[in-house]
Amino acid sequence: MNLLEVSGVVAGYGETEILHGVSLAVEERQIVTVIGPNGSGKSTLLKSIFGLVPPQKGQVRFREEDITGMAPEKMVHKGLCYVPQSNNIFPSLSVNENLEMGAFIRTDDFHQRLEEVYRLLPDLAGRRRDNAGALSGGQRQMLALARALMLDPVLLLLDEPSAGLAPNLVNSVFEKILGINRAGVAIVLVEQNAREALGLSNWGYVLASGQNQLEDRGENLLKNPEVIKLYLGG
Ligand SMILES: Nc1ncnc2c1ncn2[C@@H]1O[C@H](COP(=O)(O)OP(=O)(O)O)[C@@H](O)[C@H]1O
Ligand SMILES: [Mg+2]
Repeated sequence: MNLLEVSGVVAGYGETEILHGVSLAVEERQIVTVIGPNGSGKSTLLKSIFGLVPPQKGQVRFREEDITGMAPEKMVHKGLCYVPQSNNIFPSLSVNENLEMGAFIRTDDFHQRLEEVYRLLPDLAGRRRDNAGALSGGQRQMLALARALMLDPVLLLLDEPSAGLAPNLVNSVFEKILGINRAGVAIVLVEQNAREALGLSNWGYVLASGQNQLEDRGENLLKNPEVIKLYLGG
């Protein structure tokens, strides 16, 4: 059984159709990467899965339940979380306050979870009282991940978590993503750093002009001549 199953999703903005019938599947505990040129619809696909850009056609199923176009706050209750590429933290609040905000829908005592999240992302633990706006780019991305983790997700949708980071920080973000995955969280990863992302993925999709172009095991895509030429700078 697939954890997430996206089939034939058509979506766009106003009159403009961007996704022309995209499909994707994620099994429990997998990392699935989506690569593709700028403007191919990768971000739109994540928004469409998460109900921010509701599909006009097609279906999104989570644990066999039809969640197509469901309100994002309902999806969060089901274990789905989305981390947008930017504006994903509150810079004027402290790190700790950001995480408390992340837990806003929890009705239980979330302090145990707070400590677990700090254990997964120890760089943040030392900066609890600091303003999020004072963090480095890499630490901000960690904080955005941490906020999503406060809700104990089953599946995380991550839009370019390594965007704009220096190469040494890119690796540390990917290490953290792998750590989160090993803790049991399935991940859909949209990435420009295709080589690193495919390297840690079970499965990868290439999206082009709002359509599925190619899919295969991550390691096979890394060896695919077309993928090498177009996306791996090779
Ligand atoms: N909010 C929006 N309103 C109108 N068009 C948009 C919006 N966001 C993205 N687009 C358009 O949708 C297409 C796909 O964008 P996007 O999903 O962001 O691609 P990617 O993430 O692969 O770079 C682009 O042509 C972009 O200009
Ligand atoms: Mg994008």
